[in-house]
Amino acid sequence: MAKRGAFIVIEGLDRSGKTTQTGRLLEQLEQRDRPVQLFKFPDRTTAIGKMIDGYLRSQSDLDDRAIHLLFSANRWEIASTITNLLASGTTVLADRYAFSGIAFSASKVTAGLTYEWCRSPEIGLPAPDLTVFLDIDPEKARERGGYGDERYEKEEVQKRVRGVFDRIGKEMGSRAGESESGGRWVTVDAGHEKDIVQGIIWRLVEPLMNGVENPLMRLWE
Ligand code: TMP
Repeated sequence: MAKRGAFIVIEGLDRSGKTTQTGRLLEQLEQRDRPVQLFKFPDRTTAIGKMIDGYLRSQSDLDDRAIHLLFSANRWEIASTITNLLASGTTVLADRYAFSGIAFSASKVTAGLTYEWCRSPEIGLPAPDLTVFLDIDPEKARERGGYGDERYEKEEVQKRVRGVFDRIGKEMGSRAGESESGGRWVTVDAGHEKDIVQGIIWRLVEPLMNGVENPLMRLWE
């Protein structure tokens, strides 16, 4: 039976070089025989994505629970497309995923959303085979040219977000790097030179390039 495509997620703190590394990885993947498709979350092009975009640019205000559920719905509206692409042998690359959804919402001090509450709407999404978390000290990130103007792009927020990502990584990695239904989670020090980070990511991704035999799992199910 033909192997399915691999599902690879790149997560990272703001200014971790996530966009650059995702772009470089996409280029490398496109040079291989297997088709590849990139998804970026939030996907700001859909109706839900446009509401998220307005919120992130502070053009609109939304209840903390409502925006959390919109971010999640923005993944669910693409979930079956991802599943079908993987089944057809396409490699799927995602720039952010459910883990950002949990990390950013659970870090909002005034909202008081628990980790479990934030995780709940993400349960059952297609589970990545590999998640690469680009980790950077928020102070170092700030030195890289400052944060942008969007919500959450502030050092104290990033520090809390990093703490939640750390928790997610520990939970995912609790079975020797391979969680039962969340795939493999690898934290990469994004403080290195770009080429070095790219090399580390490629070494993690390359073994998946011939396709995956395991059936696609669902997150936390
Ligand atoms: P971006 O800068 O990668 O486009 O992401 C936009 C912001 O949205 C970023 O600060 C992280 C945040 N975010 C959430 O709060 N929840 C989510 O589910 C996702 C995907 C991103």
